[in-house]
Amino acid sequence: MEIQLVEIPKIVNAQGNIGVIEKDVIPFDIKRVYYLYDVPSSAKRGGHAHKNLQQLLVPLSGSFDVTLKDGKEETTITLNKPDKGLLINNNIWRELNNFSSGAVCMVIASGVYDEDDYIRNYREFLSYVKSNK
Ligand code: TYD
Repeated sequence: MEIQLVEIPKIVNAQGNIGVIEKDVIPFDIKRVYYLYDVPSSAKRGGHAHKNLQQLLVPLSGSFDVTLKDGKEETTITLNKPDKGLLINNNIWRELNNFSSGAVCMVIASGVYDEDDYIRNYREFLSYVKSNK
C-alpha cells in the first residue's frame, strides 16, 4: 500500500526553523485544522475511516505511529519529523498509537467536522470499500 508523504517546505536557520504549509503543498483546499495533544502513551486514536475527507497529518512535536488499512493491505509508519506530513485519502482506515510524551499531531483537513462522513465500524468499512470498487 502506497504511503504518501508530503515534504513540508522549510526555512532553515541556526536560530530555529520555520515549516510553511501554503495551499499548493497539499492536494486539497484547507477547510479545518485541528491537533491532538496531551495524548497518553497508552491511547489508541483513530479507529475509523472517512467517506470523503482527506487529511494531512503533521507530527509538530514528538512521535506516534499511524497504521493505514485499505481493506486489502495494511502498513504502519512512524511520524516523527515536523517537515514530513502523511497524506491520508478518503476510504482509508487509520489507527494512531504509541504517542511519545509531548507529541502533537496537527491535522489539516479538506472538510469541516461531519460525523456522517465517518465509518467507525471496521466491518462496515470493509463492505463500504468493496461496494465502492
Ligand atoms: P475523532 O475524530 O474520533 O478522534 P480521533 O480520530 O483523533 O481518535 O474525534 C473524537 C471526538 O471529537 C468525536 O466525538 C468527534 C469530536 N470532534 C469534533 O467535534 N470536531 C472535530 O473537528 C474532531 C476532529 C473531532
